[in-house]
Amino acid sequence: MNLVLNTIGASVDNDMICPLIPDKKEVEIINTSDMKIAHCMGCNQCWLKTPGVCAIKDDYESILKKLVQADNLWIVSDTRFGFLDYKGKRVMDRIVPMLNMTVGFRDGWMRHEVRYHPLNIGLLYKGDADQAMMEDWCKRTAVNIGGHSLGAIAFSNNAKRVIDDRGEKSVISGRPEHLVIINGSPRVAKFSNTEKIIHSFVKGLEEAGVTWELHHLSNRNEWDAAREAYLDNKRTLIAFPLYVECVPSLMLEFLETLPVVHQQQGELSFLLHGGMDEGYEFRFCERILQGLPAQFGCSYGGTLIHGGSFGIRTREDAVKAKIVAPYEKMGRLFAQQGNFLTPEAKKFTGPEQYPWLVRKMVSLLFLKKVNGEFEQFAKDWGCTRPLDDKPYSDK
Ligand SMILES: Cc1cc2nc3c(=O)[nH]c(=O)nc-3n(C[C@H](O)[C@H](O)[C@H](O)COP(=O)(O)O)c2cc1C
Repeated sequence: MNLVLNTIGASVDNDMICPLIPDKKEVEIINTSDMKIAHCMGCNQCWLKTPGVCAIKDDYESILKKLVQADNLWIVSDTRFGFLDYKGKRVMDRIVPMLNMTVGFRDGWMRHEVRYHPLNIGLLYKGDADQAMMEDWCKRTAVNIGGHSLGAIAFSNNAKRVIDDRGEKSVISGRPEHLVIINGSPRVAKFSNTEKIIHSFVKGLEEAGVTWELHHLSNRNEWDAAREAYLDNKRTLIAFPLYVECVPSLMLEFLETLPVVHQQQGELSFLLHGGMDEGYEFRFCERILQGLPAQFGCSYGGTLIHGGSFGIRTREDAVKAKIVAPYEKMGRLFAQQGNFLTPEAKKFTGPEQYPWLVRKMVSLLFLKKVNGEFEQFAKDWGCTRPLDDKPYSDK
């Protein structure tokens, strides 16, 4: 069955959608534009407390039930910043209950196990975007959920590269005096891994005498202050977790509220981290980030990338401390350079992919332990179901 989620609404009707779906045997189109669908807030309950069931009680639950019956998922989305807009990305971020918390290697890459069955992903998009990038995102997203890409199809043939078309602005030279930091995680600050990373990073800034201020996108009441701080200052760092191969939908929504011109010569840098260890996991998102500052009239100060951050929440204190400690050094480096365009920052990411032997060793020696730790963590949270529970299957 083809499940089509139309996140654009009436301006794209079924007569426009249906001819683009190659396998027309069974197609169900849902217009999500007038449904109540919140952003994923990264609470992890769908993995660790009520496996397969999202904690947010809104209209997405009916979509999850249909996804369990579907083979192909098509997202109909508008575009912003050369990528899906926040409404299109939002329905993908909420797909996480279709996966289990537990991890294993699939096709040479560390992945979450699939809860029900593989799901193929396709994209029908409107507006200007880089066709190759859209296809790439489909491929990457599909393999995460065990399936294959159905392709990315533009409604009009004006798909073009917008990523770099405002030209490169030269980076701001000299040491920074003050840094605006925005925590782009949808997860409340108290539980946010990004928050812990930021607190380690700013130790390095403080040592070097750089002042900083911090705003959180998880709290919408802070959005105005975050926007003003960004506009009033030269340097802004947005730190955030990878969500379904790219920027979380909540952060995309915030970015849409920024004016397209920065009054001053602004510079945007990014700190990107995520659950998986390998550097390759972050490269698609990095490409989107490289083109983002120019679209706000800012220069690009680089992206500091590092994986393996899931454990900040789930592992014991000594391990957590080990994961966040290296960011302090990166804070010192940023204080000297004012950006992440340095070989040290590049090196910080670590390996792009684990070599075959390492993958074998991790599989044999560590995966059972790591997955066992998740099970223990779930028990501590009061979870009474197995982590691979299938709450919406017919059986
Ligand atoms: C909806 C969602 C999607 C995610 N997608 C990815 C992903 O594609 N790759 C990855 O490495 N980690 C992914 N993660 C894991 C987060 O990046 C990771 O847990 C991060 O440490 C969360 O930081 P935070 O606590 O500040 O939100 C995802 C998490 C959630 C909730």
